[in-house]
Amino acid sequence: MSKIVITRRIPELGIDKLRKTFPEAYIDYHDSEVKLDLNELRRRIRGAQGIIALLDDQLSSETLAYAPNLKVIANFAVGYNNIDTEYCKNHGIYVTNTPDILTGATADLAMALVLSVTRRIVEADRYTREGKFSGWGSTLMLGTELRDKLVGVFGAGRIGTEVIKRLIPFGPKIIYTTRAEKEHLQQLGAKYTPADKLLKQVDVLIITAPLTTETKYLINFQSLRTMKRGVFIINVGRGPIIEESALVHGLSTGRIAGAGLDVYEFEPIVTEDLKLMDNVVILPHIGSATHEARNGMSEMVADAVISALKDERPQYNVY
Ligand code: DGY
Repeated sequence: MSKIVITRRIPELGIDKLRKTFPEAYIDYHDSEVKLDLNELRRRIRGAQGIIALLDDQLSSETLAYAPNLKVIANFAVGYNNIDTEYCKNHGIYVTNTPDILTGATADLAMALVLSVTRRIVEADRYTREGKFSGWGSTLMLGTELRDKLVGVFGAGRIGTEVIKRLIPFGPKIIYTTRAEKEHLQQLGAKYTPADKLLKQVDVLIITAPLTTETKYLINFQSLRTMKRGVFIINVGRGPIIEESALVHGLSTGRIAGAGLDVYEFEPIVTEDLKLMDNVVILPHIGSATHEARNGMSEMVADAVISALKDERPQYNVY
């Protein structure tokens, strides 16, 4: 009998699919929003052939050694920096993610953060709720327009590309950084620019990159010093791409005009100083949090487990 572990609550669609496909399987479903602690995770994955994991389940080689029969880890996320993929590759374990289905939702959220921060939406909402709105004012809550500004997208993969498309009607000049120059982005009018040059020039930086050894601490005390005074920074990629102490320093000295964050260096912990700043919008990692995306992700992780347990290569294997 196959054992499939689902480490936390996910939309029912995928679970129904698994139950229908493998009526005999033992589905160890942790139907809760509370993350399993490491010991419990290790206990549950013993004897599992499939794991459906969430993006903050740390599946290191030490932990995966508890699941010697494992065939697949289906990560309920597009990012998979929580999994030791090298170990999986060496042990014949498929690792899958959920690309495409969440691209639009995450790009929409990035745009929402850009507009929230540059037009001070959350700050203005708070101001109004607090009863401070006493009449129209010509200098009240002035923001910054994107028109003719230079916006840099760091990590122009699927999500970054969709962010670029959403930016175009707002009229900024757009540059981007990826591993290699992309023809379709040139055609959209976005110009490839290496990371160090991009950081020096931009008025608005939008981070959509995955976390890798190259992207970790892209924004740190040193790189921040090279950036334009008054830059806006948005991060929907992964938290450790920004050294949060440097960000706080930049925000408090005015080097950074505002920040919109969906992810954090020490997630789910958010640096206290950030919570106190009016020019910061902080969200609880909801990039892909739409009914459409999350239902689709649920089906995708189920499909990945189904393929692997039938000894077929899953469609979204990452290596
Ligand atoms: C992902 O899937 O990696 C995103 O961060 C979810 O919002």
